[in-house]
Amino acid sequence: MKKNRAIIGCQWGDEGKGKIVDLLAADADVIARFQGGANAGHTICVDHKKYILHLIPAGIIQPGKICYIGNGVVLDPLAFKEELAFLTSQGIDYRNRLFVSPATNLVLPYHKLIDAVEEESRGTASLGTTQRGIGPAYVDKVARHGIRVADLFSPDRLRKRLEFQRVLKARYLEGSVDPRADLERTYQELQELAVTLRPMMIDVSLALYRAHREGKTILFEGAQGSMLDVDLGTYPFATSSNTTIGGALTGLGIGPKMIDEVVGVVKAYTTRVGAGPFPTELVDAVGEQLRTIGDEYGATTGRPRRTGWLDLVALRHAVRINGVESLAITKLDVLDQFDEIKVCTHYELHGERQGEVPLDLAELATVKPVYTSMPGWQCDTTGTTSFAKLPEKARSYLEYIARDLEVRICLVSTGAKREETILV
Ligand code: GDP
Ligand code: IMO
Ligand code: MG
Repeated sequence: MKKNRAIIGCQWGDEGKGKIVDLLAADADVIARFQGGANAGHTICVDHKKYILHLIPAGIIQPGKICYIGNGVVLDPLAFKEELAFLTSQGIDYRNRLFVSPATNLVLPYHKLIDAVEEESRGTASLGTTQRGIGPAYVDKVARHGIRVADLFSPDRLRKRLEFQRVLKARYLEGSVDPRADLERTYQELQELAVTLRPMMIDVSLALYRAHREGKTILFEGAQGSMLDVDLGTYPFATSSNTTIGGALTGLGIGPKMIDEVVGVVKAYTTRVGAGPFPTELVDAVGEQLRTIGDEYGATTGRPRRTGWLDLVALRHAVRINGVESLAITKLDVLDQFDEIKVCTHYELHGERQGEVPLDLAELATVKPVYTSMPGWQCDTTGTTSFAKLPEKARSYLEYIARDLEVRICLVSTGAKREETILV
């Protein structure tokens, strides 16, 4: 029986979710994105082409698949329009198979302006956000004065809501010459975008319920990573949504039993973009080597990603809070050349060893990683498609991870392309 799987990043994002969703979408009928916004950058490499998607589910690349953007996402309509144009330029037809919930909150130009101003005000304590307006848009949603997709189709309501924003956001907008502060311009842009969005509006919760009843297979696409979850991650150095499994339920309006399996995506080492604690970070030549070989530059902002060894303590946390049952381990090939590979098994805090992530950020910022060292395999695994054909040391590395986390490995990725994959 085909399963409805949820794809969740287990680290600080950029684990390779895009590749995994695209791959597993082949076996699904429906792909649904449930949180985050255009802060995400999901890369898919097929037939010498590279696609980077921010808002639209990675499943759109597979012909004929139905894709939904759920209410838990914050949708930047201008970024969305650009992404639609990108798909068209790539010959990908999204008509009649891409739908958006009317309850989805919008990210508008002034949210991006506020994001930038807030980052600036934080000074040296800035979070290193993607400046895509994500935090301010979720703030408006929770404060109950967000503007949602449905509002686009009532010009009077849209205008009233924008006028209310003018009052609320006076501190940021009044006297600003930044075009993002111009609400009249935003109103005009939204009027135009409403035409594009109208045929895509659908009750995503109901559509998924019906698809499920009809026996369709659904893939749930997460964005960001578990350590960036606003409740369970490294707050305040986090994003503003629930990136963990609960976000799939509220972000789409589904019950827990619709998800048969939670697949955790884990990069074979660790990366992080933006500020915040990163216990296994390597700020030396080895870290630079990981960045160069792994091409670790942000898919959304182009920023160099911080790099480090695999952190099993953080992964135990991710496995537990998501109920991860199987792992998709990506970028194994990036470790090919290393003669020694380290894995963090514990943190040392106040002279004591501990195996769990402290929830107090001040503590997490001071922990020292305790490593186990393993010999590298030092041969090329790029494109390997069978577990048995991996060098023994690479298999030992993977088995060590699975044993420690007490979950099985369902997939190993040995290159960016769709076919460079081992299905276990
Ligand atoms: P996401 O945000 O989780 O979808 O990940 P990103 O797309 O931001 O970053 C992952 C990067 O690694 C992309 O450039 C992918 O093309 C690339 N990638 C994914 N899997 C592999 C792999 O197994 N090996 C290598 N070398 N690159 C990979
Ligand atoms: P994908 O889906 C990696 C990080 C930012 C910053 C913090 C808050 O591609 O894995 P935000 O703009 O969300 O307010 O920024 O979260 N961040 C990501 N890091 N991958 C992502 O998405 C990210 N989305 C946000 O760098 O540290
Ligand atoms: Mg990414």
